[in-house]
Amino acid sequence: MPGSDLQSWNQRYLAGEFGFRETDPFVMDAHKNYLQPLLRENSATGSNTGLDLAGGAGHHAIWLGQQGWRMTLADWSQPALEIAREKAAASQLTLDIQQGAAVDVVSEYAARGHRFGFVLVSFFLDRAVLPWLPKILIPDGLLLYRTYTQDNERLGNSRGPRDPQHLLRSQELLEIYRGMKILHYNETVAQKGVAELIAQQVEAQPTKLEAKS
Ligand SMILES: C[S@@+](CC[C@H](N)C(=O)[O-])C[C@H]1O[C@@H](n2cnc3c(N)ncnc32)[C@H](O)[C@@H]1O
Repeated sequence: MPGSDLQSWNQRYLAGEFGFRETDPFVMDAHKNYLQPLLRENSATGSNTGLDLAGGAGHHAIWLGQQGWRMTLADWSQPALEIAREKAAASQLTLDIQQGAAVDVVSEYAARGHRFGFVLVSFFLDRAVLPWLPKILIPDGLLLYRTYTQDNERLGNSRGPRDPQHLLRSQELLEIYRGMKILHYNETVAQKGVAELIAQQVEAQPTKLEAKS
């Protein structure tokens, strides 16, 4: 199993692994059932923005951009972002690209009072990031989260991380996001262990000025 450090990820993208992937059915279903209505409602307010955090080479960000969202793709791997940049240009799509560690990216957005219509996190876990995500959502904004659980290792799935710091505990997302409205939650424990959550921001987050006073 390759490491989870930046150098290992860069090597994987440079070697052509992980660069070209299909859109996950979770993302397509979430878009159809939850994001698309939000997109229509917010079309006049300019809130049609989404963040794909640790989004790698951008296959989800590009697909979502093609559905009408103004997407930001953030990842720490420059080679991954280069692939995304090329794919976006080939599709004539505007993609905002941010390179950096996920926790720095989200804490910086929160500090600046920058909010998204939705945030997608797919197959990435850094626990330091989790509390920041509701803070960078507009009221009614959606959090889409899907990644491996500790069951993944027990089930012997050869894919996915081994280190518990990158594996969710059962119900962990529900616990952390209990202040949000849970629209969908599922944990798969057949063949692979994966948890998926769709949650809506119900509390208005303080603006930058309010946060300071
Ligand atoms: C398993 S891939 C998932 C990529 C994409 N979200 C998907 O679903 O296909 C994990 C991604 O997280 C990125 N990553 C890992 N640790 C990171 C960190 N601390 N900050 C930002 N990106 C990170 C890697 O570069 C990689 O692109």
